[in-house]
Amino acid sequence: MDGLVQARDLEYAYSGTGEAALRGVTLTVREGAFVAILGRNGSGKSTFAKQLNVLITPTGGSVSVMGMDTRETEHTMAIRQAVGLVFQNPDNQIVATVVEEDVAFGPENLGVPPPEIRERVDAALRATRMSDYARKAPHMLSGGQKQRVAIAGALAMRPRLLVLDEATAMLDPDGRREVMDTARGLVKSHGMTVVWITHTMEEAIAADEVIVISDGEAIARGTPREIFSDPHRLATLGLAAPAAARTAALLRERGVAVPPGVLTVEELADALCAL
Ligand SMILES: Nc1ncnc2c1ncn2[C@@H]1O[C@H](COP(=O)(O)OP(=O)(O)OP(=O)(O)O)[C@@H](O)[C@H]1O
Ligand SMILES: [Mg+2]
Repeated sequence: MDGLVQARDLEYAYSGTGEAALRGVTLTVREGAFVAILGRNGSGKSTFAKQLNVLITPTGGSVSVMGMDTRETEHTMAIRQAVGLVFQNPDNQIVATVVEEDVAFGPENLGVPPPEIRERVDAALRATRMSDYARKAPHMLSGGQKQRVAIAGALAMRPRLLVLDEATAMLDPDGRREVMDTARGLVKSHGMTVVWITHTMEEAIAADEVIVISDGEAIARGTPREIFSDPHRLATLGLAAPAAARTAALLRERGVAVPPGVLTVEELADALCAL
């Protein structure tokens, strides 16, 4: 059965470029899942993200969102309303001169009634811990704070699918964890679907499922444990193991009996405490 997102043999070549940025990508994103898309610089992650909001459409194969083919223009509005997209650079995403007005911009455009807009804006600012900045000017904020405003703006649209394209790159590790926890919370409480695009394995570990993109192709998919705990498979994917897994391996080499399958710092700490 098709998922919320279904890509079939998806190809995309930017005009004027010889090589395709996406080459035969077939993948499914199930409704209610928290999926990480992991890939190195230039692997095609953003090109894929842009397909989900119909910023670009396939030059071969197809993408459907909620069963609607992105190439059929009568679906464009409906797809854009259902898919919130947040990019890495918040400066290109903030449109208003006051934070809460910026967050309200999306729902206003959707024709949401004003009392509900208020509710949504407050909830989105709370979720991103930006309530104290509601009346501030976005240009006075730090990069990380601006990014949280951009994420709040997407949340206020109450999208069925939230796509975060390296959206936490400008945040510190705590900020990153907070945004991820917020996104996970929305998956649980609101049945939202999240596509979390990243080039760091540490972030991908927190997802339900990981899709690895390399050179425009989706080359692996599985649970984080399936993908990351097999060093041989990782090597064939051109990825290094997560820091905690590497540390566990080094400790094992030095004779410390750390059990296999350690992926996170917490798991490593637990394993060491249990010794
Ligand atoms: N507007 C564009 N015009 C031409 N080529 C592009 C354009 N945008 C991206 N590309 C090329 O398409 C390929 C995939 O780029 P894309 O931005 O999707 O990768 P990415 O995985 O998001 O990389 P990053 O980690 O740097 O964000 C790269 O070879 C890139 O140079
Ligand atoms: Mg990118």
